[in-house]
Amino acid sequence: MSYLRLAVTDRCNLRCSYCMPAEGIAYLPEKKLLTWDEMLRIVQVLHPMGIQKVRITGGEPFVRNGLMDFLTELSRLKDLEICLTTNGVLLESNIQKLANLGIKSINLSLDALDRDRFFQITRRDDYDTVYQNLLRLIEANFQVKINAVVMQGKNEQDILALTNFAKDHPVSVRFIEEMPFNGSGQLEPVLHWNHRRILSEIQQAYPAILAMPGKLGETATNYQIPGFQGDVGIIAAFTRNFCGSCNRVRVTALGQVKTCLYDDGVFDLKEFMRSGVRDEEIAETFLRLFAHRPLNGFEAEKNRKGVIQESMTTIGG
Ligand code: GTP
Ligand code: 5AD
Ligand code: SF4
Repeated sequence: MSYLRLAVTDRCNLRCSYCMPAEGIAYLPEKKLLTWDEMLRIVQVLHPMGIQKVRITGGEPFVRNGLMDFLTELSRLKDLEICLTTNGVLLESNIQKLANLGIKSINLSLDALDRDRFFQITRRDDYDTVYQNLLRLIEANFQVKINAVVMQGKNEQDILALTNFAKDHPVSVRFIEEMPFNGSGQLEPVLHWNHRRILSEIQQAYPAILAMPGKLGETATNYQIPGFQGDVGIIAAFTRNFCGSCNRVRVTALGQVKTCLYDDGVFDLKEFMRSGVRDEEIAETFLRLFAHRPLNGFEAEKNRKGVIQESMTTIGG
């Protein structure tokens, strides 16, 4: 395991339909969430154990007060890559500070390149802000990945619109299979746009599209298109064809450890830490959890107590 995904809040300023119900989810009181100090301690324990990269997610990380101070603390740890996944609404005043901290890579959730479709999906009118912030990130030389969940009847047009954005901008646009983490507890989720269908849609417009060699632990299959400044990727998040090389451990905003995105939490780290344990005990616990990881996302799902009920906002993706 070399990659920690840390969800720093369950709150969000958008209401994306693939993530939450329209009225949002019942937010937990702040004391139920890990504190910044607890999160820092987790990273400090895991870093010497081989965690080389930490991705800050949420909810939306920038809605929790204290994020920049936390990132400043993290940036003091040597040889730790810090990445962020954000919806981009609150980025403007933070872009320069992020660059100053040495943060290089930002994944931006943007499912549509159109104000109305953006509103339909996110239930908020923030398209112009997010789009301008995307351009600002590119201008500031961040490595930008755009995440777009592909949804039947909602943003199919955006497959080509976003692909074309990568023609003129040095970004990676990644299309993501929709997963059932939307808080609704669907019994039998149906995937309308799987990775093959997404690829074939792009291939029709760009027959010369070419798969690039993958990196170990990467969830996206990436493709180059001749003449493009950027590239496109497809994340088979529901099909789960990349589990074999998974190097990820997750800590949710509530302090649950997940050794697979599809498990329902395998350890209550928050209560454990609040019982006054030593760092060594936390480290031993992680090693035990790593040793008992499920083989893949299907096994993790089978081991759950029930159907997927969670919203992505507590997990962070
Ligand atoms: P990098 O490879 O570090 O750029 O990150 P990423 O693409 O994995 O992270 P990001 O937060 O941008 O997530 C993109 C999509 O991939 C989201 O929909 C995540 O839920 C999904 N995803 C991330 N990790 C996993 C995983 O381990 N399994 C599955 N099935 N999906 C994942
Ligand atoms: N299915 C697939 N991806 C999702 N994300 C959030 N909810 C879902 C879902 N149900 C993605 C967001 C964000 C990333 C962390 O997870 O697009 O970019
Ligand atoms: Fe917020 Fe991200 Fe969920 Fe959208 S996907 S509602 S931006 S946490």
